[in-house]
Amino acid sequence: GEVPVICIDGPSASGKGTLASELAKRLGYHYLDSGALYRVTALAATRAGLSLDAEHEANIVRLIQTLNPRFDDGRIWLNGEDCGTAIRADDMGGKASQVSALPGVRAALLDLQRRAARLPGLVADGRDMGTVIFPQAPLKVFLTATPETRADRRHKQLMANGFDAKLSDLLADLQARDARDTQRSVAPLKPAEDAKPLDNSQLGIEESVQQVLSWWLALQ
Ligand code: C5P
Repeated sequence: GEVPVICIDGPSASGKGTLASELAKRLGYHYLDSGALYRVTALAATRAGLSLDAEHEANIVRLIQTLNPRFDDGRIWLNGEDCGTAIRADDMGGKASQVSALPGVRAALLDLQRRAARLPGLVADGRDMGTVIFPQAPLKVFLTATPETRADRRHKQLMANGFDAKLSDLLADLQARDARDTQRSVAPLKPAEDAKPLDNSQLGIEESVQQVLSWWLALQ
């Protein structure tokens, strides 16, 4: 039968990952962190010495086919190496954004994402879950927060992971990434037509979880 899918899309550091993984836990569903796929791709391409642009697009696509990333409970292995921390470094966000603008890379990661939709259900977070990957999903949420709120959260997250960062640099980086993600020609960041907008600037995680759960229950 149909696998129920909930899509959580939105800009970087809007809290998608926290919300989506918490929803998955409450519902007993699988969780897809699609940004991690672009981050893993950027990490592997950087390590292979490839520039993250059209010049090496074909090489990066070939690299993806040999990567064989494994996901499980929010952890990610690349050829046996747990690379969950390496892909969270802040420069990997910008690099992921660069590789994600390459159409060949997006195409190469498409099936991997769709295969994540398994029973009893999936919560998927990213930029194009509702618009491109799971357009039939019954619930699509477009999660936003002000740039200042997001920069502040990213700052706390990086510090907690042992990375050093300046708030003003993070804000500038987020705004650059927003611009690139919304203006690119393939799968730009934008709400699906039937997406429910949710601004969580003033909400705690529990309030956001309850809002999405109530939308979900209303559909059952
Ligand atoms: O969500 P996260 O910050 O981990 O994503 C890293 C980058 O990967 C984003 O800035 C975005 O450019 C790209 N991405 C994407 N499509 C997705 C998920 C992430 O283009 N579905």
